[in-house]
Amino acid sequence: MPAIRVRNIEKSYRDLHVLKGVDFEVASGSIFALLGSNGAGKTTAIKILSTLLKADAGTASVNGYDVATQAADVRESISLTGQFAAVDEVLTGRENLILVAKLRHLTNPGKIADDLLARFSLTDAGGRKAATYSGGMRRRLDIAMSLIGNPPVIFLDVPTTGLDPEARIEVWQTVKNLAQGGTTVLLTTQYLDEAEQLADRIAILHQGRIIVNGTLAELKALLPPAKIEYVEKQPSLEDVFFAVVGENGAGPDGEATGPHREAGTPAASAQNSEDQR
Ligand SMILES: Nc1ncnc2c1ncn2[C@@H]1O[C@H](COP(=O)(O)OP(=O)(O)OP(=O)(O)O)[C@@H](O)[C@H]1O
Ligand SMILES: [Mg+2]
Repeated sequence: MPAIRVRNIEKSYRDLHVLKGVDFEVASGSIFALLGSNGAGKTTAIKILSTLLKADAGTASVNGYDVATQAADVRESISLTGQFAAVDEVLTGRENLILVAKLRHLTNPGKIADDLLARFSLTDAGGRKAATYSGGMRRRLDIAMSLIGNPPVIFLDVPTTGLDPEARIEVWQTVKNLAQGGTTVLLTTQYLDEAEQLADRIAILHQGRIIVNGTLAELKALLPPAKIEYVEKQPSLEDVFFAVVGENGAGPDGEATGPHREAGTPAASAQNSEDQR
């Protein structure tokens, strides 16, 4: 049985017909990327699947429960990391995690919080108010909060938007680890490379419908066969970023670091950062 099944879902906001019959399935324990440009309806789809919004037509089930008629069971089965970080700014990072653990009626919330702080490289920042966190730290805390209680299905709405390349790769690794542990992940993204890096299957949402759905290999097969071209390989801006930031880069909690490394051995440092990735 698929962990998520979506059949002919439609949703309009007044005259705006955003979802015009969306169908897809997500296999249990897999990572599924819903790819679409701004305004395509990704958040709308996530809201319907997480029971925050009712569809106008169609059916959807999550973890075997119908989102319309078994909303409470769906909510027990999922966690949602929304597009905009949902941390409480007045609380410290640790307190945010403890709050969620208590809301989920778990025993030993302090230990759960400390374990997650360590896992997300937030131990040093754990005692600081979330209001003082950088965007990346906030995002990591938000994702950490959604893992509490080990829900079988996780929704991540554009999880890496606004993150720097390092933080993005950290989030990707977290998502991969989750799926390896058997969690089903539905993530939305505007970034092709994110879908390419992470997803077992990719669906493209465009003008209210899924216009393509397949593995990366299947999607690539839709294009004409590869041509061989010889191009001079220039370093990408990301290569430069890692070469410069490299091993002396931002500390694990993203705090500002000391003076920048000396230029001088860019090739060597590029090699190092390549090794780290
Ligand atoms: N509550 C609402 N009322 C009216 N229109 C809405 C509402 N929520 C979303 N829309 C519209 O529906 C369309 C889809 O929005 P949605 O937020 O689902 O897109 P998205 O794919 O998540 O985009 P983004 O990549 O920018 O987050 C947009 O045109 C948006 O303006
Ligand atoms: Mg959105």
